[in-house]
Amino acid sequence: MAEFTLPSHSKVKPGKKHAGPTAAKKPKTFKVYRWSPDDGNNPTVDEYPIDLADCGPMVLDALIHIKNDVDSTLTFRRSCREGICGSCAMNIDGTNTLACTKPIEEVKGDVKILPLPHMPVVKDLVPDLTHVYAQYASIEPWIKTESAPPSRERLQSPAEREKLDGLYECILCFCCTTSCPSYWWNGERYLGPAILLQAYRWLADSRDEAAGERLDELEDPFRLYRCHTIMNCTKTCPKGLNPAKAIAETKKLMVERT
Ligand code: SF4
Ligand code: SF4
Ligand code: FES
Repeated sequence: MAEFTLPSHSKVKPGKKHAGPTAAKKPKTFKVYRWSPDDGNNPTVDEYPIDLADCGPMVLDALIHIKNDVDSTLTFRRSCREGICGSCAMNIDGTNTLACTKPIEEVKGDVKILPLPHMPVVKDLVPDLTHVYAQYASIEPWIKTESAPPSRERLQSPAEREKLDGLYECILCFCCTTSCPSYWWNGERYLGPAILLQAYRWLADSRDEAAGERLDELEDPFRLYRCHTIMNCTKTCPKGLNPAKAIAETKKLMVERT
């Protein structure tokens, strides 16, 4: 049987154990992945014992508390704090989710935090999204029309508008894409669930007039058909969306047009 070993510099080593507060009312330890491109060291998992009485209820609140009061070198992305921007996506307690909407009390024991899996890391909990954004650009995520523009906006009936429900809410956090085994192995060519849900969002839009062209672009053994309906994507989506269904609908459109 083939054996695979990680390059020695990629192995995660035990890291720094920070001193905790004395006499904490609600003690909790956060074990956080750390890696910097600047020092040539291996990644580590640093331990931060904190008092939950000193911070808000979500995992992002604890990370902000750690950064402000314990270790200012800790790096992570966040913006809205409301589950809207998608920037605080990370792996918490073994699941890809949003730190700002993940209650600390849902995690039994220590809170283990890693960056989104199978993405290059820029620093600590910050993944490099360059490739996945290039994939997003490749589906041309804007309305495309050929007919003459109307004098006012392009209208939709309520039923047509309803077809976008479950699609327009996607915040491009990439929790789904980075939980997809097919994307782990073929991410260079497979578009992954987030981008395929976005592609279907335009196929489902009654105002868009480029369905044929969009399907031509997806008609490829890798870009679309690497989805094997494993469903990790739907299970992990923090917005409760169903990218696997959007992919299945796209495959149905492919069949229908033949
Ligand atoms: S259903 Fe498709 S996209 Fe979703 S995790 Fe499985 S293979 Fe990936
Ligand atoms: S489908 Fe869900 S998990 Fe995937 S990018 Fe959109 S919001 Fe995030
Ligand atoms: S900070 Fe915007 S989604 Fe979490």
